[in-house]
Amino acid sequence: MTTRVLTGITTSGTPHLGNYAGAIRPAIAESRNPQVDSFYFLADYHALIKCDDPLRIQRSRLEIAATWLACGLDPERVTFYRQSDIPEIPELTWLLTCVAAKGLLNRAHAYKASTAANVDAGEDPDAGVTMGLYSYPVLMAADILMFNAHKIPVGRDQIQHVEMARDIGQRFNHLFGAGREFFVMPEALIADNVATLPGLDGRKMSKSYDNTIPLFVPAKQLKSAIAKIVTDSKLPNEPKNPDDSHLFDIYRAFASDAQTTQFADDLRQGLAWGEAKNQLFELLNSELAEPRERYQELLARPDHLEDVLQAGAVKARAVATPFLAELRDAVGLRTFRVPVQTATPEKKKKAKGARFVSSRAADGTFQFFLRDAAGVELAQSISFADGKAAGQVSQQLAVQVQPDLREQADSLAWYLDDQAVATVSATVEQIQAALAEMQAE
Ligand code: TRP
Repeated sequence: MTTRVLTGITTSGTPHLGNYAGAIRPAIAESRNPQVDSFYFLADYHALIKCDDPLRIQRSRLEIAATWLACGLDPERVTFYRQSDIPEIPELTWLLTCVAAKGLLNRAHAYKASTAANVDAGEDPDAGVTMGLYSYPVLMAADILMFNAHKIPVGRDQIQHVEMARDIGQRFNHLFGAGREFFVMPEALIADNVATLPGLDGRKMSKSYDNTIPLFVPAKQLKSAIAKIVTDSKLPNEPKNPDDSHLFDIYRAFASDAQTTQFADDLRQGLAWGEAKNQLFELLNSELAEPRERYQELLARPDHLEDVLQAGAVKARAVATPFLAELRDAVGLRTFRVPVQTATPEKKKKAKGARFVSSRAADGTFQFFLRDAAGVELAQSISFADGKAAGQVSQQLAVQVQPDLREQADSLAWYLDDQAVATVSATVEQIQAALAEMQAE
């Protein structure tokens, strides 16, 4: 069976070396795997949330499309499209908005960070917060669920959004599926072996820190960007510690093992920083010179890029259009030409309340989940080596009246005997309500 891999690239800037090493290069390599069916798209609706400059939006869409093709993405092999060319996506966003719990979205990191900053500044918590920012995770859920993608390669900051897509999809399945699972449950894919590049100042390379090396600038500018990489002040011939140098980290992300070893040895033996920067330039330039030329050619032919993306939209819509028709039907948006079925008068089955369910993972470990009546996940346990231990812990939690929930960095943890046994993706009130519901049954 092929795995469907899907990811979006927000079109609000110019790609830099960190985007290339961390996302573009591994994604293109993955797209060549015959077991994988890749969907890569320009998240230009998402870009509108952060940017109200039309010229910048347009420029960035063009640059990012050209970058992916210049780096070797084969649009015949993958489905490569612009989010805004797929009208089914905003339509699905609305269907999902109608089942997404507001409380779920209240917990989104990006929204919480904005309200927290406002409170710190003594402003109204929602000052400057648009509905676009607030609903961002629902749009992202639609991107993912529209194509029933299994794996979503994203940075760590996006894991929560993929979890929300699961939640929302599960809720829709539960409400409208009538036994059928419309949506596949997506999983975030965090590649551990992929480089997170440091920027000029050593912090993660990121537009927001203004410490990036742009990917496709002319050789001369690449050289002067590299010259700005901060190093320590050791003199030529003084031994340097490669493990303490982000210049070395950048070098390593592009070099073979042999080159890396050689470079580390040279630094230890006193290679001057100026010479080290020259070597880094040569290395980067040799990898980037060819795609840079293709990039310039592509930018010079925007109507070719338009054709490629339009063809991608046709491919994507071949999946999205019929699927959305089923979803519309499921929620009751149906043609009048077919007689309306009257609702069956018999009483609806008594709804199942909140419950613990356990499952066995592929690696043989056991986990349990607390779900509410609608099937939405409220808590997820740690892994247990055996099913009995998992069962005992969940039984103990089920009878609690005052669960021991402690605030973690960005979630709640559920403690039992001073040990964290589960991660909570709901509020204290929701957990208490679920427990009360179970205990009343
Ligand atoms: N929010 C993602 C980011 O900023 C981009 C994105 C939009 C995305 N839709 C997506 C990523 C769907 C994966 C799947 O990085």
